[in-house]
Amino acid sequence: MFLTAQQREDFDREGYLFLPSCFSDREMQALRVEAETIYGQDREEVWREKTGAPRTAFAAHTYNEAYRRLGAHPRLIGPVTELLGEAVYMHQFKINAKAAFDGDVWQWHQDYGTWARDDGMPEPRAMNIAVFLDEVLPINGALMFIPRSHKRGVLEAGHDLQTTSYPLWTLDKATVTDLAKEGGIVAPTGPAGSVIMFHGNLVHASPPNITPYQRKIVYLTLCAVSNHITKFQRAEWIAHRDFTPIEPVADDALMTYAAEHPAVAAE
Ligand code: SIN
Ligand code: MN
Repeated sequence: MFLTAQQREDFDREGYLFLPSCFSDREMQALRVEAETIYGQDREEVWREKTGAPRTAFAAHTYNEAYRRLGAHPRLIGPVTELLGEAVYMHQFKINAKAAFDGDVWQWHQDYGTWARDDGMPEPRAMNIAVFLDEVLPINGALMFIPRSHKRGVLEAGHDLQTTSYPLWTLDKATVTDLAKEGGIVAPTGPAGSVIMFHGNLVHASPPNITPYQRKIVYLTLCAVSNHITKFQRAEWIAHRDFTPIEPVADDALMTYAAEHPAVAAE
């Protein structure tokens, strides 16, 4: 059992679950350093803001050992497997930078809208689990949710190719206004190592980061194996085709990584 009955009930009602300080700062340190190294690389998986600052790095669990361990961590895989009631595979994996001064907006959207429209995912039996690499503050581009909006199914959306460097199926102002009247808007904040699980249909967004404080968050999108995607129009490193169930690593895998890489762990 990874979640209590109360936590399962909260998740079902609100559409998200916030688990502060799920990992220690030592476990996050090497991941912070590795993220900067990845952002510095010239590779197709790294998307940049219009300014050139890093926006997101896809699929790092396939080319970086520290992220491979995070992508199979039992503290993440365990609760999601429990909620979805079946083994999970990695549909998408990204390290979102929301860089100091340059981190741009993520418009209001539902993730399952994209997974269904672009990837042919049959049901919303997939979810994100977010891991804060840096402290998330009310001022550095915190992730915002409209609680209970996951109960509305897939909402009508428009494909926004203009606002940022990243194409996104976004909701209009009237829809967001209407949903917020009912559910309000929350922005969970907390130290590095905190975790948020959220339903694929939960409406969310984040404002630009104009502060000098970094706000890196890793997102694992875990999908029930029997619910794998059926359309393969996006790159393999954005919407994965490997539907093998994730085999969790040991609970101390990130601590072991820190011990094996003292230079990175101490930076
Ligand atoms: C997302 O919705 O996929 C990203 C939001 C963020 O990192 O702020
Ligand atoms: Mn999203």
